[in-house]
Amino acid sequence: MSRAGIKAVLQTRKAEDKTPPGPRGNLLWGSASAIRRDILGFFLHAVREYGDIIRYRFMIWPGYFVNHPDYVKHILIDNNRNYNKNTPGFETLRWIVGNGLVTSEGDLWLRQRRLMQPSFHKQRLASFATVMTQAAAETAESWEQIARRGEVLDVDEEMMRLTLKIAGLTLFSMDISGKADTVGQAFTYANKFVTEYLYRRIPRNLPLPRNRKFEEALRTLDQVVSAIIRERRARGEDTGDLLSMLLHARDEDTGEGMDDRQLRDEVMTLLLAGHETTANALTWTWYLLSKHPLVMRRLQSELAEVLGGRLPTVDDLPKLCYTRMVIDEALRLYPPAWMMSRQATEDDEIGGYRIPAKTIVFFSPYVVHRHPSFWENPEGFDPERFTPERSAGRPRFAYLPFGGGPRLCIGNNFALMEAQLILATLAQRYQLELVPGHRVEPEPLITLRPRYGLRMVVKHYSA
Ligand code: HEM
Repeated sequence: MSRAGIKAVLQTRKAEDKTPPGPRGNLLWGSASAIRRDILGFFLHAVREYGDIIRYRFMIWPGYFVNHPDYVKHILIDNNRNYNKNTPGFETLRWIVGNGLVTSEGDLWLRQRRLMQPSFHKQRLASFATVMTQAAAETAESWEQIARRGEVLDVDEEMMRLTLKIAGLTLFSMDISGKADTVGQAFTYANKFVTEYLYRRIPRNLPLPRNRKFEEALRTLDQVVSAIIRERRARGEDTGDLLSMLLHARDEDTGEGMDDRQLRDEVMTLLLAGHETTANALTWTWYLLSKHPLVMRRLQSELAEVLGGRLPTVDDLPKLCYTRMVIDEALRLYPPAWMMSRQATEDDEIGGYRIPAKTIVFFSPYVVHRHPSFWENPEGFDPERFTPERSAGRPRFAYLPFGGGPRLCIGNNFALMEAQLILATLAQRYQLELVPGHRVEPEPLITLRPRYGLRMVVKHYSA
């Protein structure tokens, strides 16, 4: 055998033998208690201590966690065919959204992705801008009296209501903002329930009040989705929106339409993925702006300069560079999709370590976005780190609020445009200040939310 051959064999052996380092935790439970106590802190600390790939144990389940942009790229792009979504996180998400675009795989996923992609093309999105700005302007109007009286708002709830309204109008041509509280409460419970399940694994089929309440929340969400589908079928018209496309899609071979279950799963997926994440992104943005008055002032001066008091349009977006950087930076510090997971189908190797088939591999935008090798002063809120000059040379997967590769968020441009238009509309008129003493800390459920909501005082902005 040649020297190169021997070296290759030795290297393979090395990877075969090597298990990544990591916290050993308790003899019985591994790191379960530490993870339940503070999962964000646990992984931030673990990568600092053990490096960019670690192995840990959660009760009887071993897990791998990778934190280098190259390793993430390996999973999402280079070897993406070896990684599927058979993970506990996606399993529990399927309880809520079924087998829609986020959770499905293989041929079904590809067919549905191709079907929906045109609804998210840039040109198509541009036609949503007016709806987005109009809805934001209505919110601005509704804040007028509140600002005059110096009252307090639950900004997290306001953002949910607004983005739900926009999702309904743009994707389903329906105003479902009247359902905001019903959807909000049901989804919040479901969100907490599945997180709790992942931590405690209390069987879902036991006759416990918490399980019954979860079934109730699912029924409520189902009713909202069924009503959306029923109403559109009754109208019968083709409005050219995403829901119409789903309703009128025909299989190329069989000529059959989507069955009711698939339709329900796709609508539920779009309803939840299409508003909850963007609402969280905006909520965190308001929080960060309230903590950084200089950034807020700079944002407001850009808005005054570009818009001069009028409402933003899609043509203004490229000029609202600072507004966009504020959103990018908020998504870095508080990425709503804060944890992602995949299962290896076959044996693989990452960073010189063997990844056995069936291993569940996790990576977290929240943790990668704080990697000190790629982010200077990682905890600081500094929108200008997203200028082209300062972004140059940063690896693609040092920043992944929307994931990447074939499973890149289909709504990323939709969400960014929406966030930019909403922020521009509201921030040129108002300043939001955190209620003194209100505690703010991230609550890592399926999405990252402020645990105690976000109570803020609304004030008129005066230059
Ligand atoms: C700030 C807002 C948003 C964030 C942070 C976000 C984040 C993500 C991430 C990280 C993924 C990839 C998950 C994975 O690979 O495991 C994803 C997928 C997805 N997102 Fe978003 N998203 C946002 C807004 C939206 C919007 C507005 C929509 C729809 C209107 C949407 C629909 C979807 C769908 C359907 C997928 C699955 C795509 C596929 O697998 O083909 N998202 N999102």
